Amino acid sequence: MSLRQFISLRKILRPFHFIKDSATLGWNEVAGLFGLNDDVFHNPAHKKIAKPVTVVLIGAGHRGTIYADYARLFPGEMQVVAVAEINAERRKRTARTHKLDDTVCFKNWEEVFTREKFADAVIIATPDFLHTQPCLAALEKGYDVLLEKPIATTEEECRLILQKAKQTNRIVGVCHVLRYTPYFRELKEIIDAGLIGDIISIHHMEPIEHIHMSHSYVRGKWKNSLKTAPIILAKSSHDTDIIRWLVNNPVHDVHCFGNLRWFTNANAPEGCTDRCTGGCKVEQTCPYSALQIYYRDRKRLYVFDLPDQKHTWDQYILEQLETTDYGRCVYKMDNDQPDHLTVNMLFENGVTAGFSMEAHVSYEGRRTRIMGSKGDITGDMESFVMTSFKSRKQTSWSLKTDAHGGGDHRLVRDWVQAIYQQEPGLLSSSIDVSVESHLVAFAAERSRLKRTIEDIKL
Ligand SMILES: NC(=O)c1ccc[n+]([C@@H]2O[C@H](COP(=O)([O-])OP(=O)(O)OC[C@H]3O[C@@H](n4cnc5c(N)ncnc54)[C@H](O)[C@@H]3O)[C@@H](O)[C@H]2O)c1
Repeated sequence: MSLRQFISLRKILRPFHFIKDSATLGWNEVAGLFGLNDDVFHNPAHKKIAKPVTVVLIGAGHRGTIYADYARLFPGEMQVVAVAEINAERRKRTARTHKLDDTVCFKNWEEVFTREKFADAVIIATPDFLHTQPCLAALEKGYDVLLEKPIATTEEECRLILQKAKQTNRIVGVCHVLRYTPYFRELKEIIDAGLIGDIISIHHMEPIEHIHMSHSYVRGKWKNSLKTAPIILAKSSHDTDIIRWLVNNPVHDVHCFGNLRWFTNANAPEGCTDRCTGGCKVEQTCPYSALQIYYRDRKRLYVFDLPDQKHTWDQYILEQLETTDYGRCVYKMDNDQPDHLTVNMLFENGVTAGFSMEAHVSYEGRRTRIMGSKGDITGDMESFVMTSFKSRKQTSWSLKTDAHGGGDHRLVRDWVQAIYQQEPGLLSSSIDVSVESHLVAFAAERSRLKRTIEDIKL
């Protein structure tokens, strides 16, 4: 049996409870029983690529490197032909990996667009505030684009990009990686197949995990909403998008409460110093000790551009903690992002959704509850259980994936195919819908600050 046949069979059999009550097998394991080790979410609309799609990488940091890595793994599908990166180390590393000579290694994004178009597309993975200009320039020059989320940091700029994409008729894929995770794909298929009837309401939670919060939104790149983007956009635009995608209807009204409750000066323990390396009296007991996280546990080190020689790391990490924000006390930062918030959404079709973003949790992985007219679903990003109201039958599903739920490279694959076939419909989201879900996040932030209920109008 081919993988495609297996997928069709799976769809036909699902209503008949092909997977037994409380089965523990995931679809990947079930496929394995049939001797099928491929991706069960293979898209039959994908075509064999005769000539790799050529790409310029703009911003070779954490995310850009992950997307560009697709070219290393699948050289027949995508080829990185140039890089633009202000950090010399990252530029060199990318040049080494993708075998680029100096003539195609640019020191900033502007240089790329001083030349005539020389590739099919660009990947834009620069910081949040630096998405709009390169994206507009790329569209103007006739490139297709893969754009990191958030699309832009203001509503006006999001609309500008939407307008330019339409005017130039180019493809803009937005990195809604959650849509490409097997977990959310399966949820979407089940909902669209009507297995829980009409959606009545959704409750969705994004647990950020407290160390992740301290790393990114207290000490890190997104600590200040004015310099980057409000956390509801920077972190949770994935969630406003995924909820809108599952409901498959525009949001009408939004309301939000939330604040910065814990990571403030008022909660600084007695004896703490400006840096964890400065003789802090509570360093040994503080869950946010930078010495513990980065130096002893060696976690989240990707922000430091570690040297190749591992024996120098001890000294190097200590220097980073003494000189960068990652070594500063979490209670003495210039941060303003809320560490908890709740959003209420009312969709045009009457569905309601409650979303909460929580920093003070020990775990990661979205928690989802979907209430339908014929059944419900509860899930935690690795597995979910669907219960039918009539039969009381429960169907469970599980799949182990990486931290992003396996979505990153599936997203790149669809995007490469969309460009190769010049078919934007191959992307999970159109730029219109992506902008719409960003508008929900902007509206939620306005509501949080002004204590209003906000309308959404594209
Ligand atoms: N889709 C997701 O799940 C997800 C997850 C994390 C971050 N992001 C987003 O991805 C983007 C990049 O985040 P990151 O964590 O990779 O950050 P990063 O800092 O690791 O990477 C950004 C890179 O852009 C480079 N850069 C800055 N100015 C430049 C310029 N003028 N020209 C060329 N390059 C320039 C920086 O030197 C850096 O290497 C951000 O918008 C972020 O919000 C998305």
